[in-house]
Amino acid sequence: MLNRRSLLATATAVGLAAPLGREALAAAMAPVAMPAPSLYDKDEDAYWAGLRKQFLMPADLVNLNNGTVGSSPRPVLKAVFDSYEQTEQMMQAGAEEYPIWGYGPWPEFRKPFADLVGAHVDQIAIVRNCTEANSFIGNGFDMKAGDEVLMSDEEHGSGIAPWELRAKRYGIVIKTFAMPKPPKSPDEILNRINDAITPRTKIIFVSHISTNTGVILPAKQISALARSKGIVSAFDGAHAAGMGKLDLNDIGCDLYAGSMHKWLFSPKGTGFLYVRDDSIGDRLWPTTVTHSWDDRTLKAGRYQQFGSSNIPTMMGLNAAVAMAQDIGIDRIERRHRQLADYLHAEMMKRGATSWTSPDPAMRCAIITVNVPPVQRMELETWLWQNHKIRVRGGEPSKLRLSTPYYLSKADLERFLDAFDAFRRMKGLA
Ligand SMILES: Cc1ncc(COP(=O)(O)O)c(C=O)c1O
Repeated sequence: MLNRRSLLATATAVGLAAPLGREALAAAMAPVAMPAPSLYDKDEDAYWAGLRKQFLMPADLVNLNNGTVGSSPRPVLKAVFDSYEQTEQMMQAGAEEYPIWGYGPWPEFRKPFADLVGAHVDQIAIVRNCTEANSFIGNGFDMKAGDEVLMSDEEHGSGIAPWELRAKRYGIVIKTFAMPKPPKSPDEILNRINDAITPRTKIIFVSHISTNTGVILPAKQISALARSKGIVSAFDGAHAAGMGKLDLNDIGCDLYAGSMHKWLFSPKGTGFLYVRDDSIGDRLWPTTVTHSWDDRTLKAGRYQQFGSSNIPTMMGLNAAVAMAQDIGIDRIERRHRQLADYLHAEMMKRGATSWTSPDPAMRCAIITVNVPPVQRMELETWLWQNHKIRVRGGEPSKLRLSTPYYLSKADLERFLDAFDAFRRMKGLA
């Protein structure tokens, strides 16, 4: 395992700046004023550049891999650190109020987030991440041997594994449909789902935004299709919260798993489970349990009764939600799409083939292109070690590029120039 010294040695060897030491970090953590909201109308790029300063990432780091984890900005970090300082003094007013966290209903943390994603506080359980929420669905949904779950062939490992476990242990059956690459319209996906449904299909479990391609699946239509056939609909929405407008009750699904640490920039260790109402709650057994595990009056709160937990993380979540609300989710979504569309168009000019849908309704801040014969891992490593640019790929030549709102056009140009230089260096352009 790498210790701090070997990490620093590795960083130095590849020419990267080492992470800041304590004093430098304290200086870097000094509050930086948020850009005035009115700046947006006067000079949009300056507004986003102002927001970039809220992130601790060095100014010359270009993060095109927000799809894996987001970086939490200063207001979020401050909320977390302040909360630790407060709570660890053990000076809470109540005789039993010291940190026994994880047995309460937590409306003060669930409600702001629920408001952001178009849900009622009672429909949201805050859990550790999307993996945990996916496991709660796969493990807890009432099924018997031979019952089928239908999913796409692009699900994330944490979406597949709970069902595999269930199949191995209890004999449920996993059915898969192939996602078109790229899908040209929502109907292409709906038809494939429709064709794969059998009389034994009990639940459709698919991503809202595909981790492989960034394609947005037509969640509302999938939910309606499922409902029309008496099938439960469940989504893995790891990439949706904070990416753009999300209205869970409008989607009309039964269950929805997600994480806030990616596009909402909340602290790591924040995820959620949405449970539409009692009719689905009655069919979803809780997985991690303690007191109150069967208290139906808690509604979705039943799924977050998991014992000693972490209030500072929740304070960070509230700060992340507040920041997104202050900026405005419509502005965030527009910016995400603009940056991603620009990058996509530039990669197409360079001869890439695309797995990003041509339908604007199915696009977001994650684009996916294939750039053979470039070997993605070689490119990924070279970009990071030589240019401080983070991208994420897949074998052999796939690039998944994600464009958080704080990136500038200049950041994108830096990546494109570096990509061109890499191809020249390899004699490919
Ligand atoms: C679609 C999808 N589901 C689930 C996950 C796992 O998310 P988490 O790290 O929040 O558990 C990811 C992570 O990238 C993902 O892309």
